[in-house]
Amino acid sequence: MANEYYEKLIRCRDVIREKTDFQPRIGLILGSGLGPVAETMEVVATVDYKDLPGFPVSTVPGHAGRYLFGYIGGVPVVCMQGRVHYYEGFDVHDVVLPVRLMGLLGIKLVFLTNAAGGLDPNMETPSLMVIRDHMMFNFPNPLVGPNLDELGPRFPDMSEIYDKNLRDVLHTTAAGLGMKLDEGVYIQLTGPSFETPFEVRYYGAIGGSAVGMSTACEAVAARHMGLKVCGMSCITNKGAGLSAHALSHQEVIEAGQQIAERFSALVTAAIPALDAAL
Ligand code: HPA
Repeated sequence: MANEYYEKLIRCRDVIREKTDFQPRIGLILGSGLGPVAETMEVVATVDYKDLPGFPVSTVPGHAGRYLFGYIGGVPVVCMQGRVHYYEGFDVHDVVLPVRLMGLLGIKLVFLTNAAGGLDPNMETPSLMVIRDHMMFNFPNPLVGPNLDELGPRFPDMSEIYDKNLRDVLHTTAAGLGMKLDEGVYIQLTGPSFETPFEVRYYGAIGGSAVGMSTACEAVAARHMGLKVCGMSCITNKGAGLSAHALSHQEVIEAGQQIAERFSALVTAAIPALDAAL
């Protein structure tokens, strides 16, 4: 796999480089319903995923499929409006290809965002949570297979996967905006079914704060490359069994829309502060 996959990555990078020589410092991945953040961006170039040979293209409603290149708060950023998920049937290596590609474009930090279900019955919804750590539960590690020595080592350290200084920057930024911001542990599951109430109690009992279907594998692939990582979950709903009603993707999208303005304000203010802390 190694060479073919690496060649695909390089081909995608070369196609992007034919379209733009923009040099981003931060990569931003926007989760379900959180795409509107991109409206705060001063866009100078866009690249549709479908124009990149072999690039995985998402089928999920609520996920646009393109890279945006431009500035947020004066910082050069590449933003992924939409990502692919393992549950769509993609190989896990393809799921992390987009974040690796941003690494090859020269970013120093990737800022991962997602929609997630809250495991604490007292968590407000919608609300925002900085990711302190994660667990991939019954989810394949994206580094399994021949190591891509060009990208990073065989056995990369993951002891501070979400950078402590950058988490502090997010909290300071939120405080400056008078916004409440939680911090917790994100558990990535394969999906696409939502959890059962028993699973939700179990994930909460082992110390998880939120469950979702993305992000952790991207964080692992990014750390493997030596990128700094920070992450934020938008808690769109209480986990199954913690509220009276059934869960739906529609609810997740609507909650994302409800919090989009707060989320945008925080991300827009945080990007220059994160950049200054790199
Ligand atoms: N579970 C898993 N993924 C999610 C959820 C959830 O409750 N909400 C948003 N993404």
